[in-house]
Amino acid sequence: MPWQPPPEDPALRSDRFAIRLRGLEKAFNGHPVLRGTDLDIERGKINTIIGGSGQGKSVLVKHVIGLLKPDRGHVFVDGVDIPSLAEYDLNQIRRKFGMLFQYAALFDSLTVAENIEFPLVEHSSLDRAERARLVREGLASLGLPESLLEKYPAELSGGQRKRVGLARALVLKPEILLYDEPTTGLDPIATQNVDDMIRDISQQTRVTSVVISHDMASTFRIGDRISMLHEGQIIESGSPDEIRCSRDPVLRRFIETSGAVQLEPL
Ligand SMILES: Nc1ncnc2c1ncn2[C@@H]1O[C@H](COP(=O)(O)OP(=O)(O)OP(=O)(O)O)[C@@H](O)[C@H]1O
Ligand SMILES: [Mg+2]
Repeated sequence: MPWQPPPEDPALRSDRFAIRLRGLEKAFNGHPVLRGTDLDIERGKINTIIGGSGQGKSVLVKHVIGLLKPDRGHVFVDGVDIPSLAEYDLNQIRRKFGMLFQYAALFDSLTVAENIEFPLVEHSSLDRAERARLVREGLASLGLPESLLEKYPAELSGGQRKRVGLARALVLKPEILLYDEPTTGLDPIATQNVDDMIRDISQQTRVTSVVISHDMASTFRIGDRISMLHEGQIIESGSPDEIRCSRDPVLRRFIETSGAVQLEPL
């Protein structure tokens, strides 16, 4: 047998993988959602996670930033096991992350400017003028007009709200960006704009991106790597071309039903 390198210890820092989930288990009220999930997230790439509604995609990503604690298993971020951290260390490590929550989750009582500024107030010692400069810069980089700064979330369109959420996620210049359904509820043009933004940000900053998506066209357009979560486990992971050739019947049915992507015939 040819020599094989020993398997990499997921607890060690890896150049290739920024995040490694191992044997993640989580149940709510006795109902298991994650059932031994294993997943590697490639550094500097766009990693998409697909799967049906209620399969646990949002739950999975909340474990990565320590908003949920697993019943069992590990979440290594650069070799640090997130579930084992105390609150103070968790807050430190959260600075690595920018998160765009499903439904954008802006603070309704804060203006656009205050929303984008929020992480800077929480996590930086920058003065007011410096914070205001970064807020304006963030808004402009996402193609939003300055006239939005004093508006409240309720006055924005869905697409604008997503962009403001993205500006807020980016303001601390994170190493890892987590997007939970960034294009849900957007029309096809706005969807493409958000896709382009995710790709531009990825290319310009070399950030590690994790994108949860229902949208197969988007997933295949932007994903360097696609993984499917089903019944609490990752049933397939690979490049878009590898996924197109997958023989897994659950994955094939999921993608074919969308009608947006052509699979290789079996
Ligand atoms: N905090 C919670 N308490 C109890 N149950 C929860 C909680 N969060 C999630 N769940 C349950 O876990 C399951 C997975 O939910 P999750 O939101 O991760 O699904 P999802 O894959 O993100 O779905 P969607 O595509 O609709 O966003 C669901 O059955 C949900 O009801
Ligand atoms: Mg979800």
